[in-house]
Amino acid sequence: MKRVFSGVQPTGNIHLGNYLGALKQFVELQEDHECLYCIVDMHAITLPQDPKELKEHILDVASLYLAVGVDPKKSIVFVQSDVPGHAELSWILTCNSYTGELSRMTQFKAKSKNQESAPTGLFTYPVLMAADILLYDTDVVPVGNDQKQHIELCRDIATRINNTRKKTFVIPEGRYLKEGARIMALDDPTQKMSKSAENIHSRISLLDEPSKIKKSIMKATTDSEGIVKFDVENKPGISNLMNIYSVLSGKSLDELEKEYDGKGYGDFKKDLVEVTVEALAPIKARYEEIRHSDELLEILRDGAERANAISVKTMKRVKENFGLGL
Ligand code: TYM
Repeated sequence: MKRVFSGVQPTGNIHLGNYLGALKQFVELQEDHECLYCIVDMHAITLPQDPKELKEHILDVASLYLAVGVDPKKSIVFVQSDVPGHAELSWILTCNSYTGELSRMTQFKAKSKNQESAPTGLFTYPVLMAADILLYDTDVVPVGNDQKQHIELCRDIATRINNTRKKTFVIPEGRYLKEGARIMALDDPTQKMSKSAENIHSRISLLDEPSKIKKSIMKATTDSEGIVKFDVENKPGISNLMNIYSVLSGKSLDELEKEYDGKGYGDFKKDLVEVTVEALAPIKARYEEIRHSDELLEILRDGAERANAISVKTMKRVKENFGLGL
């Protein structure tokens, strides 16, 4: 069975982009893959975090994994810092990566913009991500489009090591969806939907109240043409909303164009509010059930144990191939 690994940062505001780009894939893949889904808390600390809030956010994201349908009987769900192999392998990979390739990462460039000096962790962030993936001999990594460059870097580092010493790593493939891979901000469809944007109406968080969902969608930026037509280049706003509508309802973009032929954006948006509220209601209900349960902690403890057992085997092989330790 092929192995899957992916992770989400516990930084709050998990939104429709995270759901449609990544979490939805997590649920599909667990049916016929061996899956590990991680809450990557060590990635979160590349930027300053309040310790109390971080702990809460870890449990929030874990609960959301389960609420969207990740089944702990089928998948391993765990917290990154509970498995020491991530940090251990990250150092070995750091020694086999180059400042040149890390400097080219667009996310690093964006996050360190206008700073004379940036945290080193922000710079080596993609190396830790490569360690997450390679630690489990991962075949498939389901993510949104924004992670493509990081996945390519992971493949480059792994290939380089395999070519210069004994074959050590499995080379992973990124898995990106056609429609959910890049959900854009509602207030500015040229920017991706993000957890940290200041305007709360730029995103729909999975736990938003129906009234907030309604407000964000009704305010969403479109164009003055009033024709429901998918055309990312010329009509990025309505195209983004159509994408969301399509993935949440299962209707194709063609079907949506036909259904709203002759109707305006108002009708379309009203229906999209309904579709979104309906899709998120069961997630919210399940989240409330699980968030403060003992079951959640048990699932994470058990997950860490199972993940650790796999990682120990990889680390033994890696250390042997690098001549490390006794
Ligand atoms: P993070 O926490 O930023 O995002 C979690 C997942 O959501 C996807 N995503 C989106 N998809 C579509 N549209 C959007 N607007 C959108 N915004 C975010 C992301 O692509 C991601 O799949 N570096 C990763 C976490 C990570 C990881 C890993 C992922 C750490 N180690 C190993 C895979 C494998 C990140 O920051 O994701």
